Amino acid sequence: MGEIVKLLKYYVTLLIPKFLIMGVIRKFSIGSYEFRLKMGVVDRPHYGYCVLNAAKLAKELKHDRICVVEFGVAGGNGLLNLEYHAQEVEKLLGIKIDVYGFDTGEGLPTLLDYRDLPYHWKPGFFKMDVPKLQSRLKKAKLIIGNISETSKTFFRDHNPAPIAAMFQDFDFYSSTEKALKMLDEDDKYFLPRVYCYLDDIIGSEVELYNDYTGERLAINEFNASHPFKKFSPAYHLITRANTQTWHHQIFIYHNFQHPKYNDFVSIENQQLPNG
Ligand SMILES: C[S@@+](CC[C@H](N)C(=O)[O-])C[C@H]1O[C@@H](n2cnc3c(N)ncnc32)[C@H](O)[C@@H]1O
Repeated sequence: MGEIVKLLKYYVTLLIPKFLIMGVIRKFSIGSYEFRLKMGVVDRPHYGYCVLNAAKLAKELKHDRICVVEFGVAGGNGLLNLEYHAQEVEKLLGIKIDVYGFDTGEGLPTLLDYRDLPYHWKPGFFKMDVPKLQSRLKKAKLIIGNISETSKTFFRDHNPAPIAAMFQDFDFYSSTEKALKMLDEDDKYFLPRVYCYLDDIIGSEVELYNDYTGERLAINEFNASHPFKKFSPAYHLITRANTQTWHHQIFIYHNFQHPKYNDFVSIENQQLPNG
C-alpha cells in the first residue's frame, strides 16, 4: 500500500508542473502557433491539426488556395474556431484558406428513423442566431439550408477552392450521408487526400455510437459503395504513445483515382546506409 501511495505522489508531482506550464502557455499565448498546437494548448487542437496538415499537403501539391468545411455549425463556436486556425495557418504557410459552414440555421431537422438516434437527438436542437453569428464571422461563409439542397448547389454557386479538410458534425446518419454525396462531385473540388474530423463517433454510455447508426454508418456505407474512394482511420495518430480521444476521430479520405493522388510528396532521399 505504502508503495502505491509513494508512486501516486511521484506522479502527482510530475503532473502538477506540466499542467501549470501548459496553463501559462495557453493563457499568455507563449510561443508560435505551431508550437502551441503541438503542445495541445489551443482550443480544438483537432481542428488545428486538420487545417495545418491539409494546408501542408496542399502546398506540396502546388495549390495556393484551399477551403475547409464544417458540416453542422449550430451557435458557431466551431466555425469561429476554424476561422482562427485557418488564419494562423495562412500566416504560417502563406496559403489562402477559405472557410465554409453548412447548417439549416434552424437546428436539427426531422429525424429519418433509428439511424438518426432518436433516443439522443430531437428536431430543433442547436438553433442558430444567424445575424449574431454572421456579425462575428471574419472570413467564413455560412451556407444556410438543408444539406439535401445545399449539397447540390454549393459547387455551382461558390466555385470553391479544393476542399482540404472537413469537419463532420451533422449528428445524424441521414444528414452525413447527404454531405458525403458531395464527394461524388468533380475531383477538382478536392485534394486527393482530405483530413476529416468526425464529431459523433465516440460519445458515452448514452449515445452508444456504433457502426450501424449515425455518422459511423454513413462512413461505412460510403466506403462499401465506393471502390476507389475510402475513409480510413489515421493510424499514425492512434498508435502514438499518448493517444487522445480526438486522434480516434480523425479519418483521412482517400480518392485513389484523383489525378494528383500519386504525386510524390515525401522525402526525396530515402537511401538507407548499405550494410
Ligand atoms: C451539434 S450541432 C454542430 C455544432 C458545431 N459544429 C460546434 O462544434 O459548435 C449540429 C448541427 O447540424 C445541423 N444539421 C443537422 N442536419 C442538418 C441538415 N440536414 N442540413 C443542414 N444542417 C444540419 C443542425 O442544424 C445543427 O446545428
